[in-house]
Amino acid sequence: MFRLAHVTDLHVRNFAGVRVRDFLGKRAIGALNLALVRRRKHRMDLLAALGEDLRARRYDHLVVSGDLGNLSLPSEWLQARSWIERTGVSVENATVIPGNHDTYVREVVINGAFEQVFAAYQSADLRLDKETYPFARLRGEIALVCANSCVPTGDLGAWGRVGEAQLRRVEALLAAPEVRARFRVLVIHHSPVMHRPPETRNLSDRVQLAEVLARVGAELVVHGHDHRDEFAELPGPDGRRIPVVGAGSASYAGAADRCSRYHVYQIDGARVEVLTYAHDSATGAFREVRRRTIAPNGQVFR
Ligand SMILES: [Fe+2]
Ligand SMILES: [Fe+2]
Repeated sequence: MFRLAHVTDLHVRNFAGVRVRDFLGKRAIGALNLALVRRRKHRMDLLAALGEDLRARRYDHLVVSGDLGNLSLPSEWLQARSWIERTGVSVENATVIPGNHDTYVREVVINGAFEQVFAAYQSADLRLDKETYPFARLRGEIALVCANSCVPTGDLGAWGRVGEAQLRRVEALLAAPEVRARFRVLVIHHSPVMHRPPETRNLSDRVQLAEVLARVGAELVVHGHDHRDEFAELPGPDGRRIPVVGAGSASYAGAADRCSRYHVYQIDGARVEVLTYAHDSATGAFREVRRRTIAPNGQVFR
């Protein structure tokens, strides 16, 4: 059995080495947002406790699906990378993609600053046209196909887009023989299904991504961004379903149904279970709060 942990939306805060001028422009808006809202919503002690739980349970692979930082600051990413290192998972067995909070600033995206920090967590078995995204990592019976849905919006926008060229590469990777022969997991920050309006915080080309998935198929799509657990299905080829599962934020400090959490996929041939582990404020420990089965045809049983 392969045990895949899915963690998302760490929203690490770290201003070390940041000068005042770094916060001019839209970063000032982000900093304000951070100060007013996120300081209460995301707690680093919860993230640390989650990391300790991962370390203790020793999963086969860890996927982190974006929003590792808040303001696209290298100081945040370095702290997030240290957090991953402390889970004890090797770089070969942890995979990282960015979220919209990691791509606020155009020059950061152009310079590939995020990809430099997490290069070892993005080493690929397959890549097309020498483009960074998507990339595929093959691990036993699992193939992770990792896409980037984030664009430097310039105005702290939370919407995402995969884009036509990347969509073509996503389809080609999902169709590649060494990928198709495995349990294919598409990893993306924004959901290909809109759960929470408005349109301005969702994936703008989700219809086109759904069309790709309907043609080529995937055994599972995992995402973050909404800071809550979400279960959906998209149509796949040959009448099959494609489960689309979002995980809540790893550091969120709010209500129990959204508090600091992560997902685990127990993949055993065609038999797949998705377990939700969440922080228990009474004990301070993480415990299983939900378990669902994914049928061989992709349907998620509730
Ligand atoms: Fe987020
Ligand atoms: Fe996000």
